Amino acid sequence: MDAHPVRGKELYVEYCSRCHGAKGQGNADKVIPALAGQRFTYLVRQLANFAGAERESRTMHGVAIQPAINDPQNWVNIAAYLSRLAPPADTQIGSGEATLLGRGIFHEQCASCHGVDASGDHDGFVPSLRHQHYAYLDRQMHKLADGYRHNADADLVRFMRSFDARDMRGTADYLSRLRGPGKIRNTMRQDGVVVN
Ligand code: HEC
Ligand code: HEC
Repeated sequence: MDAHPVRGKELYVEYCSRCHGAKGQGNADKVIPALAGQRFTYLVRQLANFAGAERESRTMHGVAIQPAINDPQNWVNIAAYLSRLAPPADTQIGSGEATLLGRGIFHEQCASCHGVDASGDHDGFVPSLRHQHYAYLDRQMHKLADGYRHNADADLVRFMRSFDARDMRGTADYLSRLRGPGKIRNTMRQDGVVVN
């Protein structure tokens, strides 16, 4: 399937930007994630998951099943557009109370999949966790533990279930402070492979 980011941009502006922002920067107050610079393959998969309700979110299910969106070619086009956008620089961070704890957890249990710099994997199935809002990261850790994402990796869910609320806040806070070169994911090919 060919990706058409220009067509993806048109769909994004009409159907997504009122919540996810004109530049894909998300909205921390409403716990809406940043999408700019996220991995291509991951974005496509999440749109498929929302449409098929493998990932539970009433809001995004409603968005994804609209006839204008609910088609693999549209997912590919939108993901191609978003994955090429520069990630937002000023995402929300946490209180700082447990970032050292979070750092330890991340490097021990998460970096093997998400990468030491949290930029995700090059095939794009594992998402980037940096340039993301603290409140969204914290909430998703709870949602993963509570089984809202039905086809998520079993190890990932097991880790989340082993954490208490402070562990999650600390890890989300540590991640929310990670930044990377603005353009690293702009050089990603359509198949999600990064060619630096
Ligand atoms: C009414 C507000 C709203 C609109 C419109 C909306 N979204 Fe969302 N989106 C959300 C919320 C809230 C979440 C978090 C869902 C959750 O908690 O799992 C989300 C999550 C997502 C995610 C998951 C991101 C991640 O890091 O896992 C993707 C991808 C996404 N939206 C893409 C889109 C696209 C593409 C459109 C337009 C076709 C769109 N959204 C329109 C509110 C919205
Ligand atoms: C076995 C590999 C693996 C490990 C280990 C892992 N993850 Fe993940 N993580 C994934 C994959 C794959 C996804 C995408 C899940 C999906 O498609 O629903 C994901 C998704 C996430 C998300 C949701 C991101 C978003 O944008 O919605 C968060 C947050 C997250 N992981 C945090 C962590 C943390 C914190 C740890 C360590 C405690 C961790 N992960 C360990 C593979 C892993």
